[in-house]
Amino acid sequence: MAKDLEHKQDWRSKLSQPRAVEQGEFRSLAVPVHRGSTVVFPSQQDIREGWRDHAEGEYSYGIYGTPTALELAARIADLEGARQTFLVGSGQSAIALIYLAFCGTGSHVLVPSNAYGPNKELAAGLLQRCGIEAEVYEPSLGAGIAGLIRSSTSLVWCESPGSITMEVQDVPAIVAAAHAAGVPVALDNTYAAGVLFDAFAHGVDVSMQALTKYAGGHGDVLLGSVSVREESAYTRVGDTHRALGLTASPDDCSLVLRGLETLAIRMDAMERSALRIAEWLATQPAVGRVLHPALPTCEGHALWKRDFSGSASIFSVVFRDELPQEYVLRFVNALQRFKIGWSWGGTVSLVMAYPGLDRPRYGTGCIVRFHVGLEPIENLIEDLEQALAVCSRAS
Ligand SMILES: Cc1ncc(COP(=O)(O)O)c(C=O)c1O
Repeated sequence: MAKDLEHKQDWRSKLSQPRAVEQGEFRSLAVPVHRGSTVVFPSQQDIREGWRDHAEGEYSYGIYGTPTALELAARIADLEGARQTFLVGSGQSAIALIYLAFCGTGSHVLVPSNAYGPNKELAAGLLQRCGIEAEVYEPSLGAGIAGLIRSSTSLVWCESPGSITMEVQDVPAIVAAAHAAGVPVALDNTYAAGVLFDAFAHGVDVSMQALTKYAGGHGDVLLGSVSVREESAYTRVGDTHRALGLTASPDDCSLVLRGLETLAIRMDAMERSALRIAEWLATQPAVGRVLHPALPTCEGHALWKRDFSGSASIFSVVFRDELPQEYVLRFVNALQRFKIGWSWGGTVSLVMAYPGLDRPRYGTGCIVRFHVGLEPIENLIEDLEQALAVCSRAS
């Protein structure tokens, strides 16, 4: 009979092999933070290793997901109607994962000109060095994308509404054209938080979002998700995720799990405030145009109305052509409640000017993007008013 060594541990052993904490009747509403690289097997015969294990409720190694990460992945998949969601450390790494899952040397990829900047930079830099050719297309192309598809086209990207200038794409038309040529379509669905636009119902093959934004919701976490519905995308993304050793910290996943509980109420509040503020800005003499898909004056409005169930917290303003850049930068610097910073989706309102942005269709006026957080609307309008007054006094 084996000797019971449990009761004979010296203090060194006790420290390095602490008792497992029994959870017993402790039933919390929160998903526990499970940290773990090593997963212990009951016997040598039980050893397994593979990223598909999680689908069978088995664990083999932390990199394939701890229970915390897999619970978050399952909740995102459920929200988006996906078969599976894979988690990565940021929205940008979700974009990179998709490229590497679907493209190889000799591939041709189509990326809309209004896509998130680092997406286009990745395509034009590192991917080009690997022999992947990215071609930039007009986001309004719709079914016309068929004319750009080649025999080597491996992926069509969509981002709708587009970063900064908010063009809404005709995703179903793009999907129809791409699928007719056997090409999968990827969508950056960050604006919609994976919920305001139903990517899979509109035919998209792989949908990513920066959970950093709305799901995290407090400007304190970076995380990305890649969601798939069909078997071939599941295998491609899963194999690539594993090969690259991508993973997500359980602590970060726990923050996003908490964020999800208030996502709906935050999205509703931010939608209301952003719309009111966008409408107010449209009445200001310094403003040439407001780019907000829910405003009937915005180009993509009809498509937005057809395909989306709501609008989000971000929109942009194009200042009048005749106003010099210094005027706009003075305005941004004069804001006190809107903070100057990248990213969006959190409780604090943000602003960012894009003085060098090359989007000729909007004229030469400087473009400023706003994220409207959870502050009272009147306080934000008061801030905008005082900043515009500072500029008027100075000019
Ligand atoms: C549309 C969009 N996609 C992806 C990302 C990248 O997300 P992350 O900051 O988590 O890398 C961003 C970040 O600003 C974004 O705006």
